[in-house]
Amino acid sequence: MSASRCVTGALVLAAGKGTRMKSDLPKVLLPVLDQPVLYYILDTLRRCMASSKGCVQQLAVVVGHRGETVQEYLGSNWPEALPLWQHEQLGTGHAVQIAKEWWTGLDHLLVLPGDVPLLTEASLSGLVEEHIVSGADCSFISFHASDSSGYGRVVREGKEISIVEDKDASEAQKALTEVNSGIYIFKTSSLLPHIYRLDNENAQGEYYLPDIIAMMIRAGGKVTASLSPDEGEFAGINTPLQLADAATALRRRILRRHLLAGVRMQDPDSVWIGPEVVIADNVLLEPSVQLWGKTEVERGAHVGSFSILRNVVLEEDACVVSHAVLSDSVFRKGSQVGPFIVVRDGAVFEEDSRGGKFVEVKKSRVGKGSKVPHLAYIGDAEIGAETNIGAGTITCNYDGKKKNPTTIGNRCFIGSDTMLVAPVNVGDDGFTAAGSVITQDVPEGALAVGRAKQRNIEGWAKRAGKK
Ligand code: UD1
Ligand code: MG
Repeated sequence: MSASRCVTGALVLAAGKGTRMKSDLPKVLLPVLDQPVLYYILDTLRRCMASSKGCVQQLAVVVGHRGETVQEYLGSNWPEALPLWQHEQLGTGHAVQIAKEWWTGLDHLLVLPGDVPLLTEASLSGLVEEHIVSGADCSFISFHASDSSGYGRVVREGKEISIVEDKDASEAQKALTEVNSGIYIFKTSSLLPHIYRLDNENAQGEYYLPDIIAMMIRAGGKVTASLSPDEGEFAGINTPLQLADAATALRRRILRRHLLAGVRMQDPDSVWIGPEVVIADNVLLEPSVQLWGKTEVERGAHVGSFSILRNVVLEEDACVVSHAVLSDSVFRKGSQVGPFIVVRDGAVFEEDSRGGKFVEVKKSRVGKGSKVPHLAYIGDAEIGAETNIGAGTITCNYDGKKKNPTTIGNRCFIGSDTMLVAPVNVGDDGFTAAGSVITQDVPEGALAVGRAKQRNIEGWAKRAGKK
């Protein structure tokens, strides 16, 4: 039977405490790059579900320890994943028991730990396909670990295979390097007679799912241990060191994908890119750039050194000079910002606009061809096209209670050091004199002068004895 004609459900186990991580957050929500550990396996499964091979059709996640937080994460990011509660975490076998109502309706059940973020879609669909074609009752992935400590060892004796957990293993068994990846697929009709036969008479007093393997073989079932040559994909995350190693491996994998697709990086070793970032070809990333969240970088764009972008769109030929902290904002075609700029909270730089040195722009639009070149704070403002904002300009948007808007029209000239006390409007072609405090609207085409008139006191220095 082909994989696509069977109904296969994936059950991700994510209820464990993650005791060895020594963290308050549940292990599966600890960040790897900018996404939780659990994101990676769910992303792989989502791609399996969407692929034409159709190797997985349904998805459930077992939650338990700090389960509300995990459930909340699933609800807002993975609506296709059904949370199933394991109120007491009595082991991986117990986690599969509590999900029985859900999986009995399926043909095959894929069981995956929530803490294997490096697993690829190719390995997973390969396992499902091989399992279904071979007609096995259970297939699981094993690999040779360079450091097997913590893993269940695969013990092969003639035709018998069993898995012995690290804490239960004899010295001789501990020396074995073939280990269980924790990734299994079962024919549900073959799993059902065994799942409640598990006991917890072992070093951890837990119901171990891997004990099913030996049980099935003893009952005459067919179990395939698929030995993978690629250790890197199956590394579990149980300690902070393993978390850091997984982040390094994922980071390299992401960089490689972009480099192969035509993104240029002068120093890839210093560049960090999150898994959700999309980058077109013909893009240059200078050393020490970080791209996070749902950032999108279009063709011809350039990101200068020491810039951190999160949920940012850089349209074609947009340029971030260097030292920029940009978030949740859009930079349209040919716009240029930096160095030393902060842009945040839904700001938009329209085509060919400029944002310069020591500038902060928050929740504002800088119109087509307009410039905010030096030392300015622009918050809650709409700036039209071809307008120049002089150095030192501030939109005084906060009155201590609420944020107020400023609008500045097209072709305006805002003189240096203008304080725009919001709410306030400057009409098209409006000018403000340098050093003005603008508290009233400036009509179209007018020059607003809002400063004390200069007075020169002749001979003052001599009289004051300064000379
Ligand atoms: C498990 C396997 C081990 C394998 C290793 C691979 C068992 C007993 N051992 O060990 O053979 O080599 O994975 O990485 O299965 N979980 C629950 N409910 C529970 C207990 C655990 O949902 O009651 C979840 C955890 O959140 C985790 C996954 O199951 O995502 C695996 O649990 P973990 O404690 O990491 O098992 P390992 O000791 O790594
Ligand atoms: Mg583990």
